[in-house]
Parts: sequence; C-alpha cells; structure tokens
Amino acid sequence: MLLPEQRTKLDPTNDALFYDYPRFVNHVDDHFIEQLTALYRDRLTPQTRILDLMSSWVSHLPKEMTFAHVEGHGMNGEELAKNPRLDHYFLQNLNENTTLPFEDESFAAVLNCVSVQYLQYPDQVFAEVARILEPGGLVIISFSNRMFYQKAIAAWREGTESSRVQLVQRYIRAIPAFTEPEVIRQISPVPAVLQLLGMGIHDPFYGVIAQKRKSSQG
Ligand SMILES: C[S@@+](CC[C@H](N)C(=O)[O-])C[C@H]1O[C@@H](n2cnc3c(N)ncnc32)[C@H](O)[C@@H]1O
Repeated sequence: MLLPEQRTKLDPTNDALFYDYPRFVNHVDDHFIEQLTALYRDRLTPQTRILDLMSSWVSHLPKEMTFAHVEGHGMNGEELAKNPRLDHYFLQNLNENTTLPFEDESFAAVLNCVSVQYLQYPDQVFAEVARILEPGGLVIISFSNRMFYQKAIAAWREGTESSRVQLVQRYIRAIPAFTEPEVIRQISPVPAVLQLLGMGIHDPFYGVIAQKRKSSQG
C-alpha cells in the first residue's frame, strides 16, 4: 500500500507531544462544515451507533439528528470533553496502536474529518474500520487542502489535491469488505483569476464514502 518512506512525517516525535495541549479552533471554514453537515444529514441514519474517529471539541453532526450512541476518539482529552455530541470518548494514538477497542459490527457509521493525512498505517486502520462496521455500514472520510504539514505523512504532503483523493480511494479499495468508494468534490466555482482578487475563496471539500458489503453484495 505505502512504502516505508511514504509513511514518514517531518516531525517524527510522538504525536502525543503535538496533541498534548488543546486547540479550540475550527480546522476548516464554515463552507466546508456546511457541506459536511449536509452530507451527514443525507447519509447517516438516526438512532444508530456512530464513531467519530480522530475527533476534537467540535462536532459536524446535524444538530437536529439524534443517535443511539456517538463515540468519539482523539488525542486530546480536554478537546473531546468539550465536544457536545459525544456520549463517550477514548484517547488512542493510531500510529502506535491501530486496533480499535470495539467488537465486530458494532457501528453503523465511522466518520473521519480532516485527519486521514496523519495516519501512518491507514491500511491497518481501515481494516479495523471495516471490522467494526455493521454490514451495510458507512465510512465517510472528508478532507480539504489544509493540514499540520509537519504531521502529515509524506504520501499526502507530496501529493496534489486530486492525488490525495486517489490515495484515500486506494485505502478503501485495499479492503475487500468495502464497496467501490464514491467521491464528492466541492471546489469553488469562481474562476481562479477572481479568487486572486479575494472573491469566492473557500476551503475545497472532498468526501470519500464507502459501504461495508452486505453478505449478498459481490
Ligand atoms: C485537524 S484535527 C481534526 C479534528 C476533528 N476531526 C475536526 O473535524 O475538527 C486532527 C485530529 O486528528 C487526531 N490525530 C492526529 N494524529 C493522531 C494519531 N496519531 N492517532 C490518533 N488520532 C490522531 C487528533 O485527535 C486531532 O484532533
């Protein structure tokens, strides 16, 4: 899947150090968050169990939707404690331990927002995501063009926006339990020349979505 050098980060220190203090910021703009919340509204099923993998103090779930359980995961306890949608959360460095602490088929959806670029072993993490999803369950990975550059893996840093979409598609396609990934792109319709004048600039939105196959699906 990835060569050892493609998994490296410019800052090789333990991620726990970088996430030791809370960052009470939004990592993407309102436009991106609106796209993501609309996608969640469209695809998630109320009263099901959701895992927000690599989460923080904000939730992008639609306010009016209720779920049976929202589990949060991340690296900073102060951030997760402030997240109003989480029923429970846990801390785990996925670059040290890729095994998710859940039983098989225990979630209807696993979400990952603007964080996939930090995974050094995405093949193992996505195999785990498939394991804990119910048949027919969804994985929704979203990202933009922003990142903590020193913490993103080389395969991401050195790519383009479109090669990053392809990379996430490869992560999904490597797991036979997932269906062919669907891609959603929302980039600014304003021509580049007008964006140079400050018009229509917003964070591009990319979503990659796949379903865990039901036993009847080939
Ligand atoms: C840019 S933030 C995005 C947070 C949240 N998903 C959001 O939309 O605001 C990246 C998140 O990835 C998580 N993360 C980064 N490196 C990680 C690692 N090695 N293991 C587990 N989580 C990690 C951190 O918890 C951090 O909050």
